Amino acid sequence: MLNVLQITDVHLLPGTHERLLGVDTADSLRAVLTQAFSERTPDALLATGDIAHNGELATYDRFSAIVDEFYAGPRLVLPGNHDLWAPMSRYLSNPCVLSLPGWDLIGLDSHADDSPAAELGEPDMVELRKACAAAGDKHILLATHHPPLEVDCPWLDKDRIQNADELLEWLSEHTRVVAMVFGHAHQIIESDYESADRRIALLGTPSTCFQFAPRSQKFAIDDTKPGYRWLYLASDGGVTSEVRRVADYPLNIEIPQRH
Ligand SMILES: [Fe+2]
Repeated sequence: MLNVLQITDVHLLPGTHERLLGVDTADSLRAVLTQAFSERTPDALLATGDIAHNGELATYDRFSAIVDEFYAGPRLVLPGNHDLWAPMSRYLSNPCVLSLPGWDLIGLDSHADDSPAAELGEPDMVELRKACAAAGDKHILLATHHPPLEVDCPWLDKDRIQNADELLEWLSEHTRVVAMVFGHAHQIIESDYESADRRIALLGTPSTCFQFAPRSQKFAIDDTKPGYRWLYLASDGGVTSEVRRVADYPLNIEIPQRH
């Protein structure tokens, strides 16, 4: 059994004690990592994008330094829509694959600089097909930033992966992908893609800082606590997972008022 820790949507800022919507996002990241690492040490760490809120190089250095306080093991870090490729590139693996015993973790880059929408170009798909082929008979956990399905929030759904059904159909027919994990929605999503003889779990994970309100018609924050997901990967290809929250984290959400 492999234990993989997924964190997502860190929205880190470069300066000490800087806050976003009232939340010190470095502090909430540390709170998440403190709790998660008190539970167990993961075999791999997966960070599924929106690492930096504004894409500065100093923020990626800061993220790496904070993770280093807790962990020296393998990590796979993906970009989200708030990230910028060039300053982040030193922390991105190429090809975007973590090879573990019996499993490959494959990252799919759904971001495009300066756009909130998912964008999967042909080069991304070429990389994905190569990585899936190279996995051979290993099981695959696929990770990306944007959801491959609607999450019942129209203001988020417009930016989901378009043509995700085609992607999932191809995955179910040509690969050993067992689950696809993602971020972006800042809330728990637990669904499935089902084809004739396959089921791919679709798992969205809360942010390490603030959460978006489920079923919100427009931008809305709720008061649910910072979270993360443990993924348990069995040697027979089974995946189970659980979302955990930092229940006593003092969130002080502040939404700027428009006048
Ligand atoms: Fe985000």
